[in-house]
Amino acid sequence: MRVVELQLRNYRNYAACALAPCKGVTVLLGDNGQGKTNLLEAVYLTCTGRSHRTRQDRELVRWGAEAADVQIRAERRDGSHEVEIQLPLAGRRRILIAGQEVSRSGELMGHVTGVLFSPEDLRTVKDGPAERRRFVDMALAQLRPAYYYAMQRYNRALRQRNELLRAAAVNPSLLATLDSWDEQLAASGAELMRQRRAYVARLSRAAGETHRDIAGGREVLSVAYRPNVDADGDDARACMEALFAAREGDVRRMTTSVGPHRDDVALLVDGRDVRAFGSQGQQRTAALSMRLAELGVMREELGEWPVLMLDDVMSELDPGRRCRLLERLEGIQTLVTCTDPDDLAGAQPGAVYRVSGAEIHPL
Ligand SMILES: Nc1ncnc2c1ncn2[C@@H]1O[C@H](COP(=O)(O)OP(=O)(O)OP(=O)(O)O)[C@@H](O)[C@H]1O
Ligand SMILES: [Mg+2]
Repeated sequence: MRVVELQLRNYRNYAACALAPCKGVTVLLGDNGQGKTNLLEAVYLTCTGRSHRTRQDRELVRWGAEAADVQIRAERRDGSHEVEIQLPLAGRRRILIAGQEVSRSGELMGHVTGVLFSPEDLRTVKDGPAERRRFVDMALAQLRPAYYYAMQRYNRALRQRNELLRAAAVNPSLLATLDSWDEQLAASGAELMRQRRAYVARLSRAAGETHRDIAGGREVLSVAYRPNVDADGDDARACMEALFAAREGDVRRMTTSVGPHRDDVALLVDGRDVRAFGSQGQQRTAALSMRLAELGVMREELGEWPVLMLDDVMSELDPGRRCRLLERLEGIQTLVTCTDPDDLAGAQPGAVYRVSGAEIHPL
């Protein structure tokens, strides 16, 4: 897959801007705060419907403007794909595919596919389970709209079950309807568990391979699914039983304490939790390996490379790791940001742009 053109209007610090990335590596070079990450964020938004930095659409709208607009065109093996996202300050966002508005946000998935590595990714390694769930959820949602819809069903059922638990504190007779919410949670939850388990197994294989390569063969990285509800075989039944067993406590605490919304994914270097035992550099490399593994699994699944975006990655790696990373980019359309041209020593970019004050100029 290849991004042919990106157009922004009133997006972040850009009043208007167009970028036509080249086939290979496109470098976005510029000082801090000029708008490099904003460009990657906009591309990522068209892939996933989300910014990697905020959940608030209004933050994406240029200060003083009424609405932001992102348009992108990508060439895939099956033809040209056009996506447009309109983000008004007032009212709901609109998504257009090939100029036609779509009603379900899940319809966005699969048109432009991309993987973004950013400094925030270190949180996947360092922070709590929510960050790792998000990693897996977003990766799977891009691959399979069905996963995205299962996630929506699960989250809706979870919200409603929690509302019910709160309302039941005042009116206990409401608890009679709890069974039906448990069933819905268990059904969609089992779907999430099944797909997460399979995906994490593939991710682990790919991450092991990537990490060995980038770390120069010194470390073995693996990824393991740690479901909140332990099941061998029937996930839905295991969820039902766990919900039932937790019910008394859930009613007391007015929240749902078990289920895939509490899943975790462990990252292990040489069998040990990177979060607890990894050095700073090992954690960084593990985070990068995870993204490259995501990229590899997408390639396997989709039969073509997604666009790869690397934000501020070069300055963080030692020269050996940087060099081995660049070697892997052969044949993959890549957008790389950096502040110092020296960071690119050894790379052969197809195009270099200077990003300055929300303007982009070829160098
Ligand atoms: N909604 C907005 N409207 C206008 N400007 C914004 C908005 N949101 C962020 N900005 C501006 O965008 C700039 C940040 O852009 P960006 O994060 O892309 O910088 P960068 O080039 O990646 O810098 P760094 O090298 O520090 O990572 C900041 O100057 C910020 O003030
Ligand atoms: Mg940046």
